Amino acid sequence: MNSASQQVLTVSAIRAEARDVLSVELRHPEGARLTPFAAGAHLEIRLPTTREQTMPMIRHYSLCNSPLETDRYVIAVGFAHAGRGGSRAVHETIRVGGLINASLPINNFALVPAASHYRFVAGGIGITPIMSMIGWCEAQGKSWSLLYCTRNRLRTAFYEELQQYGNRIHFHFADEAGGERADLAMYLGSKKTEEHVYCCGPASLMHSVQEHCGDRPKGSVHLEWFAAGDRPLENSSPASEFTVVVKSSGQRILVLEEKSILQALEDSGVAIPFSCREGLCRTCETSICAGRADHRDWVLSEEERDAQRSLLVCVSRAQTAELVLDL
Ligand code: FES
Repeated sequence: MNSASQQVLTVSAIRAEARDVLSVELRHPEGARLTPFAAGAHLEIRLPTTREQTMPMIRHYSLCNSPLETDRYVIAVGFAHAGRGGSRAVHETIRVGGLINASLPINNFALVPAASHYRFVAGGIGITPIMSMIGWCEAQGKSWSLLYCTRNRLRTAFYEELQQYGNRIHFHFADEAGGERADLAMYLGSKKTEEHVYCCGPASLMHSVQEHCGDRPKGSVHLEWFAAGDRPLENSSPASEFTVVVKSSGQRILVLEEKSILQALEDSGVAIPFSCREGLCRTCETSICAGRADHRDWVLSEEERDAQRSLLVCVSRAQTAELVLDL
């Protein structure tokens, strides 16, 4: 990501939204208007480095405030006890008045504007992009409903705020339901024509939604995955060796079957920014000067894949024996 797409923001407020969930409000340091965003967008945030980390931790957090607000961005972060350190950094190091380096808003989970009804499903912290979608629907007078699944009320982010929407929200608290899952068949069963489903949450919920939406029209079910490992495998062609050429230095780096391009570059002392390392976030997107990529990410569009202008080096490989990268 180049510096033109970066911004510095001030942390203007931090609030506890539920047990282990903090929302962080970000504003322009001088109070200027922010770059607008559309519902479903996220920010790529560079978190403070720790002694163990030489590269900044880059994480992606959905914007959860209404896209009509131009003076602030709000993200919410659940503390992941078994995570890779990003949520810990947010919960333990970010303070009101501090500065944050962030990208401009990026949207890989955009709302289709012309749907007759938006049927949202959220699990846990997956509520964050849905909150901004609800904000947009309300402003546009759109029809919507939400099934929101959490463990219990204490762990339900934005619980109070969502009360105002009455029976458009169906809460499912697993503890109160004796561990039973939500009745997706009931919630998704009464579909309206031209309606779109948007789901964000853990893998088990996403897979269930996919199963229950199997008969819906192509393109009407939209899923925001937390991790690539959660997604069904679509591209399983075997890996093979190839060579990456660093354009600026002419350095030739062999990428073995068991290594990603990103790992091979790191092993050779070529450091590039990364975040998810799973083909989900585009942080490691690198321009291709020559050769063809074997795209294995989850976010490039068909047009972008066909154009062969860039690839995500954390997961993608080469169709050609050599790949010259703009590094
Ligand atoms: S690091 Fe996220 S797509 Fe490569």
